[in-house]
Amino acid sequence: MKKILAVIIFIVFTSCKNDKNLFKDPSASIDQRVESLLSQMTLEEKIGQMNQYNGFWNVTGPSPKNGEQADKYDHLKNGLVGSMLNVRGVKDVKAVQKIAVEETRLGIPLIIGFDVIHGYETLSPIPLAESASWDLEAIKKSAEMAAEEAAAAGINWTFAPMVDISRDARWGRVMEGAGEDPFLGSKIAMARVQGFQGEDLSDPRTIAACAKHFAGYGFSESGKDYNTVDVGTSTLYNIIFPPFEATIKADVKTFMNSFNELNGIPATGNAYLQREILKDKWNYKGFVVSDWGSIIEMKVHGFAKDLNQAAEIAVNAGSDMDMESYAYVKELASLVKDGKVSETLIDDAAKRILRVKFELGLFEDPYKYCDETREKEIIGSAKIHEASLDMAKKCIVLLKNENNTLPLKKEGQKIALIGALASDKNSPLGSWRIAAKDNSAVSVLEGMQQYTGNKLMYAKGADVSLGKTDFITEVYINNTDKSDFAEAISVAKKADVVVMVLGEVGYQSGEGRSSTNLDLPGVQEDLLKAIHKVNSNIVLVLNNGRPLTINWADNNIPAIVEAWQLGSQSGNAIAQVLYGDYNPSGKLPMSFPRNVGQIPIYYNYKNTGRPTLPEKDVVFWSHYQDEKNTPLYPFGHGLSYANFSYKDLLVQQENNTIKVSVNVSNTSKLKGKEVVQLYIQDLFASITRPVKELKGFNLIEIQPGETKKIEFTLTEKELGFYDNSGKFIVESGEFKIFVGGSSITTLDTSIDFKI
Ligand code: GLC
Repeated sequence: MKKILAVIIFIVFTSCKNDKNLFKDPSASIDQRVESLLSQMTLEEKIGQMNQYNGFWNVTGPSPKNGEQADKYDHLKNGLVGSMLNVRGVKDVKAVQKIAVEETRLGIPLIIGFDVIHGYETLSPIPLAESASWDLEAIKKSAEMAAEEAAAAGINWTFAPMVDISRDARWGRVMEGAGEDPFLGSKIAMARVQGFQGEDLSDPRTIAACAKHFAGYGFSESGKDYNTVDVGTSTLYNIIFPPFEATIKADVKTFMNSFNELNGIPATGNAYLQREILKDKWNYKGFVVSDWGSIIEMKVHGFAKDLNQAAEIAVNAGSDMDMESYAYVKELASLVKDGKVSETLIDDAAKRILRVKFELGLFEDPYKYCDETREKEIIGSAKIHEASLDMAKKCIVLLKNENNTLPLKKEGQKIALIGALASDKNSPLGSWRIAAKDNSAVSVLEGMQQYTGNKLMYAKGADVSLGKTDFITEVYINNTDKSDFAEAISVAKKADVVVMVLGEVGYQSGEGRSSTNLDLPGVQEDLLKAIHKVNSNIVLVLNNGRPLTINWADNNIPAIVEAWQLGSQSGNAIAQVLYGDYNPSGKLPMSFPRNVGQIPIYYNYKNTGRPTLPEKDVVFWSHYQDEKNTPLYPFGHGLSYANFSYKDLLVQQENNTIKVSVNVSNTSKLKGKEVVQLYIQDLFASITRPVKELKGFNLIEIQPGETKKIEFTLTEKELGFYDNSGKFIVESGEFKIFVGGSSITTLDTSIDFKI
């Protein structure tokens, strides 16, 4: 008997001993390794994993000795920090990783986060611009390149993609998303997650992605950032949630919650969002990081009385990691000991975070992202710039092109280039360009000089903003100084064609950049009119981070190009389109309003009970007295130097699907790309459906004179919708099917669909 007991004790002891080291065994499953590590962690160490700090000292300098910085440093040394953000560059990342791995009891590596929103040091176009390409492969490639460059700088987690749907160009962060449509937004969200995370997250060229901001941030009232969000279930389920759910299908490793309250409850403390929907209904296994300080901001919202209650609410509601509120590290241990927070929630949060670190391969090699050779070789490399240029060209949208003003002639045209933005090497980088070098973008002036040499005449015309601009400071607009108009006018008089680059400086859109006026900022419209007086043959190139109300330009300027903020290769991409070396193929991912008073304006609106009235001049219908209902440019709009025609639209039901086919012809002498768009309308349903919903698109290249047959299959996933209980339903009934090169479709037909 004693022998048997001794053997049992030996087995238990060795298995425990092995279990203790199991987390180091790469042959064990990740869940086993997580459990093994968690079983050895103290409550404080588990809470440490839930604590994220912004970079807090120049790691190459002496460690901080007093105050908040010293606290953070001590927490790092004692295993009470799980992640840091805004520490970048191999040297600095290695320095903090070394402390976490070599000086703490369990040596758990840090996960290093950064806003790789559209590139790291080499910037690709802002996400709203990339969305205008409708080119999912190119978007995925762009994210892949951003990941590789960021990973070479020690980053292993990006706070992207931002997947907030928005219909409100007053909100500065529309530049960061994919526009107004949940179908396009979902496809783009998946492409970006797949680009960042690749096929194997342990590959040192890939980084963990983060779906943000969960949820509803894009519906901030009056377009004011951080403002109240109050939306109904139909909008929540059918517009706001789908892109987030799509990122889970793409295996996104993390979520970030949002600053806003949703229907009275701040997202950070919203158990409906983070537990009922995300972790239960969607069965999400990754972790949720709070947005910066959003836990303690629940006190400001009036939802928590102090830091202690904010910590309690946040962790109970499913926020797993605390970005810069210091709430978890200060309050959670006592909340657990007081029985206000169950340790099982701490275990769950810590496990979710540890799982991502294991998947990144950080336990095999915590310094795998700290390779100085790769840092030198990858960052700013030609292949990353090439990808940035390729992406940039594809984002450009030709809004108008009368009298074949474009493309420009490479010979025999005297061209004047006007506008402060035309020589601006910073604004094309947008506002999320923290790691980019100053003045590192190719300007339009530089891009065009590759075609014109020094024959190109340039004049600034007028400043857009006053003084230096940066990520955190208000931009001050030049609303009075027209002293450089005269020089621009004299240059325009000498030219056959005037190219004017107007719009927003880089920091006029982005976080904290809401506007009530969407006209061309400052004196730019006056400049446009002054030039038009002496030379009306103008090509207007917009550099902007959001839709603008450019009514006068649309009425008077023959050619208008939407060139967004295209990143490091901006000027080269714009020049190649202006000179026809790249035939523009972009389509708008967001409606352009005629008037800011029309906002929210979007293509997938509801019909209402009074969409029109037969009696002329009777007022009792849904309209404005002083503006049209339609946008200046609709969702999906974009021209080409080629021309496309649509014919032979056919639809038929096959089982529970609808098969659609259409012939698209290129009737011009130029090859070109077209985004063939498929929309539906469910005419009668148990909740009202939009007059149009994008449910398919196909980006095709067509040779001159060629006709292509494009086919789509509408499945229940496309034909159904969420009811107000959140249940997905598909109903029989009459559907209209539309196809065309924009949401103002060319062909349509109907079908009686029987489920
Ligand atoms: C910011 C943004 C969020 C970003 C985070 C870290 O306030 O809202 O999108 O990822 O803080 O920089």
